[in-house]
Amino acid sequence: MSQTKEIPLMEKIVSLCKRKGFIFQSSEIYGGINGFWDYGPLGAELKRNLRTTWWNAMMREREDVVPLDATIIMHPAIWKASGHVDTFADPMSTCKSCKKLVRSDQWWAMMCEQPWVQSLAALVEPGTDAFHTGDLLKWAKGKGKQLAPNLALVRNPEITLSWLAQDHEQGKRPQDAREFYLYLATEQRNVTGFVTPCPHCGGELTEPRPFNLMLRTHYGPIESDDNLCYLRPETAQAIFAQFKNVVDSTRVKVPFGIGQIGKAFRNEITPRNFTFRSREFEQMELEFFIPPDEVVQLIHGNVSTWSEGADLSTPQPNWGWEMWHRYWVAQRTAYYAGIGLGPDVLDYYWQSKADLAHYARACVDILFKFPFGTEELEGIAARGDFDLSQHQKHSGKPLEVFDEELRAAAVKLTDEQRAAFITKVQEDWNDHNKSREDATLFCERLLKGFYVPHVIEPSAGLDRLALAVLALAYTEIEKTDAKGAKETVTVMRFHPRIAPKKVAVFPLLKNKPELVSKARGVYDLLKKHLAADYDEGGSIGKRYARQDEAGTPFCVTVDFDTLGERGPELLDTVTLRHRDDGSQERVKISDLLGRLLPLVQ
Ligand code: GLY
Repeated sequence: MSQTKEIPLMEKIVSLCKRKGFIFQSSEIYGGINGFWDYGPLGAELKRNLRTTWWNAMMREREDVVPLDATIIMHPAIWKASGHVDTFADPMSTCKSCKKLVRSDQWWAMMCEQPWVQSLAALVEPGTDAFHTGDLLKWAKGKGKQLAPNLALVRNPEITLSWLAQDHEQGKRPQDAREFYLYLATEQRNVTGFVTPCPHCGGELTEPRPFNLMLRTHYGPIESDDNLCYLRPETAQAIFAQFKNVVDSTRVKVPFGIGQIGKAFRNEITPRNFTFRSREFEQMELEFFIPPDEVVQLIHGNVSTWSEGADLSTPQPNWGWEMWHRYWVAQRTAYYAGIGLGPDVLDYYWQSKADLAHYARACVDILFKFPFGTEELEGIAARGDFDLSQHQKHSGKPLEVFDEELRAAAVKLTDEQRAAFITKVQEDWNDHNKSREDATLFCERLLKGFYVPHVIEPSAGLDRLALAVLALAYTEIEKTDAKGAKETVTVMRFHPRIAPKKVAVFPLLKNKPELVSKARGVYDLLKKHLAADYDEGGSIGKRYARQDEAGTPFCVTVDFDTLGERGPELLDTVTLRHRDDGSQERVKISDLLGRLLPLVQ
């Protein structure tokens, strides 16, 4: 009896994405280009809907956030000031045999995906670290030769295994699975210790070295260091660089935000997991500017800090940075719930002090349970005044705001109160390893009503979100056809707000001009207001199945009842079919828009 092999979920999703026109490999006719993806007709609509939900939730429905649309290439000094030129790097190793590049901090994750590692792991007795040397020798001379030809165990099995045996005799064993593979990769143990194997071929990896992730290019006709520039690795920096222009040209007042959606580029060493880690991607970033806690304290006499159960529903004037940070985590969680990503598929990772960038006070990653693991969708960081201060320093242009309320509060202080305030700030800053001089300077400006705002940054990846909603929507259903045969069909259960097409209109039969003309009329009516599709090809069942795979939540069929052939009470009514439960109801054409619009917007 032949056995059908279970296809991994991710493979099915990738296959559906191509088949239905959600996502294609970029430049596929030339063999593709690693780390770049195109969105097909349905994918482009899906992404556009995701953008719109973010735009509306973060800007249009709020009074305190304004948009920006900045260039991808900016003055290179921006990236020097932001720290990207000097520190935006991942550790990279090169394989001395196959020359492939490996991101060192992803080495183990890559190893676990490799057939040679998986086949070796099968030789270790489950639940123990015990293995038989004979099995390893046999593997080295058989499978190993094909799967990992440059692994020391394959090239010189006896010598390589001798280290393992020698240590074993002395009661020393590999500490964990990773070290087991280091043993198998090390033919000669010397002062450099173990060799780290290349996940691709088992060869020896070089020591990790930093690899800057920014993609470089040149502006103007001459390529020299003078006109070197970068494709932006994040949209955020343009917001900081244009902060003053936005403040001067609008009526915004801290606390307020500037949001931007746009492309960003990172020269990833190893793009992976379909569109999850690609070299060109789209970000949806908000920089929300807040007063430093010292300003809140001076104006309001207290600073509200976060504790479990704190009310985060409505911002308050005395909120400190921690409340704002928690507020944005709650806002973003509500946003995800609104497009179908509820608590069952999300998780949170609160970065520890050791994880945090040196300037960040806190950062939480909102994670999604992807088929390949639980990974980051969005980071929400409290970045202090790092960015604006850096640009102020490097550009020489003031990026402070003036607050009349602050100045009024400062004027009321007695000399003693001023001195006490300054001493307290100096002590607090000292606790955070910031200099007394900086604290004094900060207080001097603050007491005159000036300060550099702090920022909370919810930064979401649009392509990651698209992948998350595709993975979540993917549903297989067992069906029995008219002849009793079982088949598995796919339904993309997108939340109606983000579904690429909201409704499809069918005439029952394509060879009846009255039905076609009526159906076209319904389509013309709907398509002005929502993304609609018209389909007259094949049986109604086939057309439903096509729309289910595209994730269209509603289908409308025009039949003979619509024409009033079975009585005037059904004249100008249509069948409205619901994707998720297959249920159908009769609806007046004149009621359709009123029914559908609230469900899809
Ligand atoms: N702006 C934060 C990021 O790009 O991850």
